[in-house]
Amino acid sequence: MCGIFGCVLNEGDAAPLVREGLKRLEYRGYDSVGVATVWDGKVFVKKDVGKLDEVHAKLNLDDLPGCVGIGHTRWATHGAPEQVNAHPHTDCTGEVAVVHNGIVENFVELKRMLEQKRHVFRSRCDTEVIAHLIEDELKKAGSLIEAVRRALREVKGSYAIAVVHAKHPDRIVCARLESPLVIGLSSRGMYCSSDIPSFLHLTRRAVFLQDYQVAEISLNGVRVYDLITGKEIPYEVQQLDLSEEAAEKSGYPHFMLKEIFEQPQAMKNALRTHELYYDLMAPALANAKRVFLTACGTSYHACVAASYALSELGGITAQPVIASEFINYVGPAVDEETVVLAVSQSGETADTLSAVRFARSKGATVLGVTNVMGSSLTRLSTVYIGQNSGPEIGVAATKTFTAQLTVLLRLAMKVGLRTGTLSQESYEGLSERLLAMPDYAAKVLETVDERVKLLASKYADRQSFCFLGRGISSATAMEGRLKLLEIAYIPCLAYPAGESKHGFIAVVEKGYPTVFVAPNDSTRTKIIGNIMEMKAREASVISLIEEGDREIAEFSDDYLEMPKGIPEMFTPLIYVIPLQLLAYYISVYRGYDPDKPRNLAKSVTVQ
Ligand code: G6P
Repeated sequence: MCGIFGCVLNEGDAAPLVREGLKRLEYRGYDSVGVATVWDGKVFVKKDVGKLDEVHAKLNLDDLPGCVGIGHTRWATHGAPEQVNAHPHTDCTGEVAVVHNGIVENFVELKRMLEQKRHVFRSRCDTEVIAHLIEDELKKAGSLIEAVRRALREVKGSYAIAVVHAKHPDRIVCARLESPLVIGLSSRGMYCSSDIPSFLHLTRRAVFLQDYQVAEISLNGVRVYDLITGKEIPYEVQQLDLSEEAAEKSGYPHFMLKEIFEQPQAMKNALRTHELYYDLMAPALANAKRVFLTACGTSYHACVAASYALSELGGITAQPVIASEFINYVGPAVDEETVVLAVSQSGETADTLSAVRFARSKGATVLGVTNVMGSSLTRLSTVYIGQNSGPEIGVAATKTFTAQLTVLLRLAMKVGLRTGTLSQESYEGLSERLLAMPDYAAKVLETVDERVKLLASKYADRQSFCFLGRGISSATAMEGRLKLLEIAYIPCLAYPAGESKHGFIAVVEKGYPTVFVAPNDSTRTKIIGNIMEMKAREASVISLIEEGDREIAEFSDDYLEMPKGIPEMFTPLIYVIPLQLLAYYISVYRGYDPDKPRNLAKSVTVQ
């Protein structure tokens, strides 16, 4: 997730307005920033690593000539946060400048093809291919918009882009596919942006660009075209009626809820990581003598789920270890034949880094999964995968959990192909199912939200909860427990359900809310037994079941139905969603701010 902004003004300099717009988009990313303007037949660019105010203090971003400009605030996906990788990106002639929010999935192939045509690349960023593709198309096309349209037909992935050209100084061409783009109209000028808060102080008249649309904005107005056919399309101008704060949260009352609802897109973005990284990691995991997974908090729960998947799909044993315990617990076993896969959203959690540094000192191979390119974890890992979730503002991890898990599941499948646990056919079948999971997540969000709200109002005053699941669902149960604990401050328990009779059962009494994660998988028969044990002690059973599972529904005081047909190892991706919502709504019912739970921090950099 990055932020893009552009403007075409009647008079005055574009650069200060672009900078102000980017400031309001920093919630979308803030590792580098850049602005390009057009003036006197030339493109002028300033960009660097750092937050907008830091870069502005260093470079004076306002000091760029011209009343047409584009800008970008970055959350790195391809290419570390370095000056050369910051946007805008230019072509070989320096006449085309592009800002981009999204991921060019086929950039390796496109780059190779363009290099064969003697294009010279300066960055490692996927976006640069778009600038060179436009350069090529301009040789054939009659206009900038036509060149952009043709160039984008080569691109696979997601994008919202804005393009300026030295020889077309009065316009911006923009387009979108799966990344947001909105155009603002005013008498002073025209704007294009990733999100409306960036121009709400300038205008409240907007056009929301749709997927596969490309637009030209100039002082003559806005023209929208179909990306595939090139035909002009009529559009509707909307009058925006939103406060600036509500607009920043896209109308959601809290960032946490917004991020829960962003999960289908976050999962899709995670699935866009290039095959190459998995092909590097899979043999290391498949051939290692010992594999440890290490992390803290929610990322640890992703590791617990991944350890089941690595066993079931990957055919290897990978032990999840809480990072703060890593050295004492498994330290003596770590050697050159060990692989440590560290998972950290921030890439900066002190306990995780300490485990990683220790592993490196013992000669182990360190692999990383993180959301922050350029973080310490990316520097300490031999190979790392960026999960592409964009910044997560709510302290409680939600979209970054399902994105991490998406990456880890794909990795487990790759390992399985390597070890022979999965045949090519079953690997391909499962890959197809994994690609469908974002749609399942969207369906669940659509169908359970209202019901979870009701459940939350019913149970909000309870003093304690217990979450139970078997197999990979025990990881889902642990994550459900953590969410409720951290944002609603309710002491909660979580167990692999079979273990509940060795302790938890002693505290069960009438009405004790006990949440069962009970998909229709290999654990179902046994979990029915555990549900009966709790029912016999008059617990209030809340179960997450597969759609139409009448048997468990009848034993339950309340139940939530999940779609049919989710492979067992993928269930945490979907079953965790109602648990995130439950915690969120209970926190709100209790009058807390779920975005900023007391005593907790998004990134814990002390041991
Ligand atoms: C803190 C955060 C959690 C997070 C954990 C690990 O406790 O509040 O949400 O899961 O750190 O963070 P990491 O960045 O390493 O995933």
